[in-house]
Amino acid sequence: MDSKSVILVSTGLCVPPYSVSNDELVECFNQYVNEFNQAHQAEIEKGEIEALRESSSEFIVKASGIESRYFFAIDGVLDPKRMVPYIPERSNDEISLQAEKGVEACKDALKRANLEPSDIDMVVLACSNMQRPYPAVSVEIQKELGIEGFAYDMNVACSSATFGLFNAYNAIQSGNVRAALIVNVEICCGHLNFRDRDSHFIFGDVATAFILQREDLVKDKHQGFKVLGTSLFTDFSSAIRNNFGFLNRCDIEKRDDPDKLFIQQGRKVFKEVCPRVGKHITEHLENLSIKPEEVKRFWLHQANLSMNQLITKKVLGRHATEEEAPVILDEFANTSSAGCIIALHQYQDGLKPGDYGVISSFGAGYSVGSVIVEKR
Ligand SMILES: CC(C)(COP(=O)(O)OP(=O)(O)OC[C@H]1O[C@@H](n2cnc3c(N)ncnc32)[C@H](O)[C@@H]1OP(=O)(O)O)[C@@H](O)C(=O)NCCC(=O)NCCS
Repeated sequence: MDSKSVILVSTGLCVPPYSVSNDELVECFNQYVNEFNQAHQAEIEKGEIEALRESSSEFIVKASGIESRYFFAIDGVLDPKRMVPYIPERSNDEISLQAEKGVEACKDALKRANLEPSDIDMVVLACSNMQRPYPAVSVEIQKELGIEGFAYDMNVACSSATFGLFNAYNAIQSGNVRAALIVNVEICCGHLNFRDRDSHFIFGDVATAFILQREDLVKDKHQGFKVLGTSLFTDFSSAIRNNFGFLNRCDIEKRDDPDKLFIQQGRKVFKEVCPRVGKHITEHLENLSIKPEEVKRFWLHQANLSMNQLITKKVLGRHATEEEAPVILDEFANTSSAGCIIALHQYQDGLKPGDYGVISSFGAGYSVGSVIVEKR
């Protein structure tokens, strides 16, 4: 047993209570569109403003593969007069919503690993949207679980889970940390523009967690996956962007503009990101002398079904089967950093000791992360 080797011992999942179908979302959106167009009929007829166009479930499934999504809060989301969830502020004495959901996912991961909070030295909240700038939400999660050591928040958008894993992997390899909890709490309903036809269907909420531990401390020799390598890449782009931040209050007129929520140029992202991710995974496998055909499973970021099909085709030179590249975005939609971890959590069956797998996430930045693992 190697004290420098790192094992991904377990994953944890907290599924939100409310599932919303495309039809429900589209019905609300179209009611909003029709009310808007009626209220602005005169300006539309004069050509002063453009009529809004309806959305359709058929388009959503065809363009993205998404059929439903979960939300932590539902009131207000399907009200065409509001289209923003009601999430009442909590006092500073109460646990924050993000920490609360993170703790649930962490407890699940700890239980599955058969570990206690005292076994963990490091907590990283790695996700797209922090509920507040400080104190770090991860420190709140750490306190709630009774973990000693340290915690910090980090954000590399949809790639946050693999970037967080990279940090934890290096912290364990350096001998500073015995085990680390990486948490991905995505409360996307708060940053999704439910009035934007191009993106109102894209995101869902969820919380995931996973534990990395030094190999010599893992009691069960068949538990989890050995991490063989991690590889990251970034290249600046504004094609996926969210301009929300504390400087918004310094330009009051623009404070509530749509760019303070998620915005993207979907086609551009598709074209630019897929080849980069395909190349990134291929090169990472090459560096570890693993042939693409030796990889039994790809747990990819779950943004768009065609994107994932194209990426695995670039790596394998043929279409991947659903067993090789499992899909969870049909049920969960795009859950940002958590998507690849949900896939990993739900699709581990059928792997034998020695089988290789790839965890990969990609998104705003642009950012790409890959982690190559071997089943124990
Ligand atoms: C967002 C995405 C699903 C849009 O799919 P797309 O096929 O590129 O769609 P387009 O925006 O080119 O629009 C195609 C047509 O559908 C229409 N359309 C767009 N939204 C629609 C909606 N909600 N309902 C019905 N039709 C819609 C458009 O008007 C357009 O028709 P037109 O040419 O007659 O105007 C897709 O580009 C995507 O997933 N990109 C990947 C980016 C991503 O997921 N990023 C997340 C972070 S990694």
